[in-house]
Amino acid sequence: MDYWFSIPAVRGAIPVAGSTFVKGLMSTFNTASVFVGSNIFPEGKQLLPGPVTWIATRCPRKKAFLVTDQFAEQFAIKVEKSLQGAGFATQIWNRVLPEAPLENIKDLAEAMKGFEPDLIVPVGGGSVIDSAKAAWIFYERPDVKDLLMVTPFFPLALRKKAILAAVPTTAGTASETTSAAVVTDEKNHRKIPLMNPELTPDFALLNPEFTWSMPPHLTMGCGLDVLAHALDALFCAGTSDFSDAMGVKSLELVFKWLPRAFANGQDREARHRMLIASCLAGMAFSNSSTALTHSLGHALGAAFKLHHGVAVGLFVPYALQFYHPATDKISLAARVMDLGGSSKDECLIKVIGELRKFYQTLNAAWAIKDLGISRSDFEKNLDRIAKDAFEDPSGFFTPRPASQAELKKLLNYAYEGRDVDF
Ligand SMILES: [Fe+2]
Repeated sequence: MDYWFSIPAVRGAIPVAGSTFVKGLMSTFNTASVFVGSNIFPEGKQLLPGPVTWIATRCPRKKAFLVTDQFAEQFAIKVEKSLQGAGFATQIWNRVLPEAPLENIKDLAEAMKGFEPDLIVPVGGGSVIDSAKAAWIFYERPDVKDLLMVTPFFPLALRKKAILAAVPTTAGTASETTSAAVVTDEKNHRKIPLMNPELTPDFALLNPEFTWSMPPHLTMGCGLDVLAHALDALFCAGTSDFSDAMGVKSLELVFKWLPRAFANGQDREARHRMLIASCLAGMAFSNSSTALTHSLGHALGAAFKLHHGVAVGLFVPYALQFYHPATDKISLAARVMDLGGSSKDECLIKVIGELRKFYQTLNAAWAIKDLGISRSDFEKNLDRIAKDAFEDPSGFFTPRPASQAELKKLLNYAYEGRDVDF
């Protein structure tokens, strides 16, 4: 069975169907209902109803199934107590694996079927929330035997059995508010990107304290993922006034608060703001798109087993330089970054210069060679990386179309850290 996006006609039609121009004729904006704060899972009696009380009104059977992994289980236990306080019977499944492998998700779906919840609560990073979304499909739709059947075009008919409330413990993927999930088909050595508006969680519950334990390198990687989401959402061909508003605010927050969260993981306000920045960027790209940062980052990351955020973040400056001839949005980015600039070319120079300083503050790689990848290893994999990037659906919405040869050239520039001049 083929991916829906590997069909040539679909590949050609999608950027047109999702373009800003067509969105002017008709568009939707999907998002979870968001609660944010360090007191969203209180223990004991409360004067006023909290988020869990509101969620409970949607769940007549009051059966909550919490999905987590060994690390985030400590936070799932806190969420569980709050749910029990609102009258839920609960069960925790703590066996999610990194990268959301399909076989693990099938085990999760079986456990879900055994408990029959009307509320699914993933508590964890992107892999946990994505695993819960995929298992939710199997739980609601036993007729779906292969996740490749899931496309963005047709209703999935979820929510006949359960709704989903996501609790992130990292500030990066924003799966708590996006219509996407990525799972790994280990047998066939491939990732399955799932996209459907119904996969947007019903609730996103953002407790900044759950992100305190992220070490600095993870804070940096996840933060660069937020930056890539916000910028691609602003620049891509599927942008809208809604996604622009959220992308702009997210960008502003990332530049102000990521260095503080990186320097001190216990910085309460920085963690709070970064969780909001991540959620806003997720809303923005989920309703517009990502673009070359993600198609190139996915391909490089898969070849060299890099953290998603580190890989996509690395391509931010090169993608912006490549987009530049096809868009005026760089002036908007320069304004958000408070840089000024009298022409769009001057704005680009200022934005790239500021990004370079920002990456140095975060100890983040500016070039592929800075990741410890040798030139010979890079060249051995280069053709495959360029091909994978070209086929990746994230790149369909690039504001400036890129051929496979141009992507290869872009990868070479990014290896050396050279400014893009073509
Ligand atoms: Fe991402």
